[in-house]
Order: sequence, then C-alpha cells, then structure tokens
Amino acid sequence: MNKSSFSSLGFADLAAGENLGRAELARILGATEPAEIEAVRAAAERVLLENCGDGVYLRGLVEASNACACDCFYCGIRKSNRNVHRYTLEADEIVACARQCAEMGYGSMVIQSGERSDKKFIDLVAGAVERIKAETRSEEEPEGLGITLCIGQQTYETYKHLYEAGAHRYLLRIETTNPELFAKLHPEDQIFESRVECLVMLHDIGFQVGTGVMIGLPGQTLDDLAGDILFFRQHDIDMIGMGPFIPHPDTPLGGEPFPDVKDRVRLALLMIAATRLALRDVNIASTTALQALDPIGREKGLKFGANVIMPQVTPQDVRRDYQLYPGKPCLEENAGECQSCLGMRIEFAGRKIGYHQWGDSLHARKRRERTKA
Ligand code: 5AD
Repeated sequence: MNKSSFSSLGFADLAAGENLGRAELARILGATEPAEIEAVRAAAERVLLENCGDGVYLRGLVEASNACACDCFYCGIRKSNRNVHRYTLEADEIVACARQCAEMGYGSMVIQSGERSDKKFIDLVAGAVERIKAETRSEEEPEGLGITLCIGQQTYETYKHLYEAGAHRYLLRIETTNPELFAKLHPEDQIFESRVECLVMLHDIGFQVGTGVMIGLPGQTLDDLAGDILFFRQHDIDMIGMGPFIPHPDTPLGGEPFPDVKDRVRLALLMIAATRLALRDVNIASTTALQALDPIGREKGLKFGANVIMPQVTPQDVRRDYQLYPGKPCLEENAGECQSCLGMRIEFAGRKIGYHQWGDSLHARKRRERTKA
C-alpha cells in the first residue's frame, strides 16, 4: 500500500472509506497524479475482493426496441432524431436471445429499450419475461435466467405487472442527482423528482434497484459526482451503471466541447473506484461507454472496482440502430464472438467469470436476509 500517495490525497486509509463524505469523495475524483490514481484503484480493488470476491457476473444485453417517447438532450435515440431507423423486436426474438444467454452460461439478462409506456409494448415485455422464465429453466438454472429490466419510467401498476411476470431487477439511471443540471439535460416534462419516486416504487415492489449517472456532463462538477455517490447510498441502491458522457452529433448536446478522452476515461474510472470505496457491497457494471472511449476500458473498469459486464446479445442486424452515443463497440461481432472475447478480457483482468449464476449484489442479498429475519 502506498501510504505517501494516500497522504497526498489527505487520507490515512482509503479502504476504510465507508464513511467518506462529500468533500473527500470529490477529492478522490480529482486525483490526477499516477501514484494517487493507483492508490485509489488498488484500494477499490481490495474492497471489492474482500467484500464481493473475484467473480464477474454477466448480463446478456438485449436492446429490445429503440422507439422512445422521450427527448433527452444527450441521447442518440431521442424521439426527435429523425435519422434513426426505429425497430421493435418480436417476443420470439427476445426469447431467442434469452435462450442464447442461457446456452452460453450467462446467468442473467438485461432487456433494455427506449422509454415507452403504451400497453402494446408493456404487454410485449411482460409476455417475453414470462416465457423466458418458463423456457430457460434447467438443472443448472432451476429458476431460469435472472431478468433485469431497463425500460424507463413507468407507473406503479406497470412496474408491479413486470415484477409479477418474473423480472427481479430494474435499472433506472437518475443521470445526475443535481436537479438543476438534470433540468438542463431534459425537456420540461421530465421531472427529477418523479424519477426519484420511481426508484422508491421499484424498491417497494421488491425489485433489486439499479441506478447510475453520466460522467463528464457539460457543467457537472466533482462535487456533483460526489453527491451522486451519496445519493446511491441514501437510496439503498443495489446496482450501479455509470459511464462517460459522449456527445452524439444528432442531439442538442452534440456540439459540446469534448475534453481530452484520457481525462474523461480517468474520471469515469475514479468514479467507479470512489463508488466501490463508499458503497462496498453493491454490483457495479463496467459499461460499454467506457469501452467506446478506450479499447480496454471495460477491463480497466474491472480493475477499478466493477464486477458486472453486459455482453451484447442484441441481434446483429439492429445493433447499429441502438446508438445512444457514437463509437459503440461490438457492432459487427455476433453473440458467440462477444462471449469468447469477453472471456479473454475478464481473465486478462485476473478475475473469474460467474457462469450460470444470477449474480445478485451482496447488498441486495443482505437486505433480503434482514427482511426474512
Ligand atoms: N453518452 C453517454 N451515455 C449516454 N446515455 C444516453 N445518451 C448518452 C450519451 N450521449 C446513457 C444514459 C441512459 C443510458 C441507457 O445510456 O445514462 O440512461
């Protein structure tokens, strides 16, 4: 352990970071010296290994539809972007992707889409979830694949319906927890407080709840990012997915100046590490957006404290139509190629793949034990 670089950040022991406050987290996020960054990384990796072990859990990612009713100023599939060819997979196609996940030993999948709340779409997702739970049972996975949904803000009734269909995790990024910044990134009808309410509802219903933010948004400060980590703690969040903001040319924020890519990757990695130091037992994904900026960005994410990876299983012919930001990797590979490439990448990071497991976060498991007791 490199004490001198800890002390240059002003900490006696970063790995005892459970009680890190806002100013301290902001200071970690501002590390620029290689020795300081390495000290933060090593501490985060140690906290991860001690708390969660060396497993990396896989969630096969199916991008079920790029149709979206929202107009977020940063997102490539926002409804006003006329350059996008819109698609929605059939239930059979989603189920086929799930079967592929099960065959490849991914214990879980994520069904992600643009935000739509029309009955036809919700029925499609709920129907697919029911079929997947029934059709992916096996000796190795008696309860079928674990299913995470990521389909935006919905009503309590819709969330409940989806939970009862068999999904047990839900991801809804808050994007930023600074309400003023949130308001600058979204049209007036998208309200910060309603998104927070959705996170509360999801917990109430029984979902394991994930959220996350974009890192490096125009106007975002280190203090904002430190506040994001405190928000995750305050809201008892089980899973975190965060990635660097990447301007998309067909959006209102497309012309934002883009700081040095290396700086942006460094900040995203420090955000993963700071979150691991502060939250300890949650699942943190090493996201595709990191790899869009750095060919080994996802491996680096694992070394900075992440323990989840979401390999692509979206059918190849529509992958290109689901581009939230430019530079999305893995557009040409098929699901099998993504699997073997990822296997090598995870081993390269010195970790083990948790095949045939749901890979729920320890944080969620502990809460379940508490409520059972
Ligand atoms: N850069 C990085 N991430 C983005 N997302 C949307 N647009 C961008 C962008 N331009 C993220 C948002 C959203 C998730 C699905 O993708 O955080 O919640």
